[in-house]
Amino acid sequence: MSVSVRDYIRTIVDFPKDGILFRDVTTLFADARGFRMAVDQLLHPYAGQRIDKVVGLEARGFILGGAVAHQLGTGFVPVRKKGKLPGTTIAQDYTLEYGEAVVEVHDDALAPGQRVLLVDDLLATGGTAEAGIRLIERLGAEVVGCAFVVDLPDLGGRKRLEALGMDVHALCD
Ligand code: PRP
Ligand code: HPA
Repeated sequence: MSVSVRDYIRTIVDFPKDGILFRDVTTLFADARGFRMAVDQLLHPYAGQRIDKVVGLEARGFILGGAVAHQLGTGFVPVRKKGKLPGTTIAQDYTLEYGEAVVEVHDDALAPGQRVLLVDDLLATGGTAEAGIRLIERLGAEVVGCAFVVDLPDLGGRKRLEALGMDVHALCD
């Protein structure tokens, strides 16, 4: 049987707390064949389309998004946790399992009408991705697709993003 992206992802039991099965993509990133497979598969549906920028979500979305941008021949834009970006930013609140968080993007990083591919390692509740989408759209750009290595379907992220009209592409559940 041929090897798939799923085969490179490790599960860590009880991280970050008891009862959680943490899907660890560092083992995927560390393997040359696995990493190339993941990047190629993430961009595959979008390769024939006009994409102006790839936006990656901190932190693992930077690793994948940078490689996807390089392969598509586009620029890369980081969405970062509050207080990390040096220039003028716009901010978006989002809800975590416990409490709230804020992500930011430089206010000159995207221009109206630009077509954007959003990339992250994992879709859980979809709160982080939705915050990224809102930032992109507030700058007048359009989200062409949202690409993830892993979707955790029980947490509802895909449904949440699809309800916003998003194209959601995940390599494995
Ligand atoms: C993880 C993951 C996604 C997000 C998914 O990042 O990499 O970005 O959570 O969860 P959600 O769909 O429920 O929003 P995390 O917030 O742990 O940040 P990190 O990558 O900086 O560790
Ligand atoms: N792995 C990585 N990031 C996550 C996970 C996971 O299992 N759950 C929520 N964010």
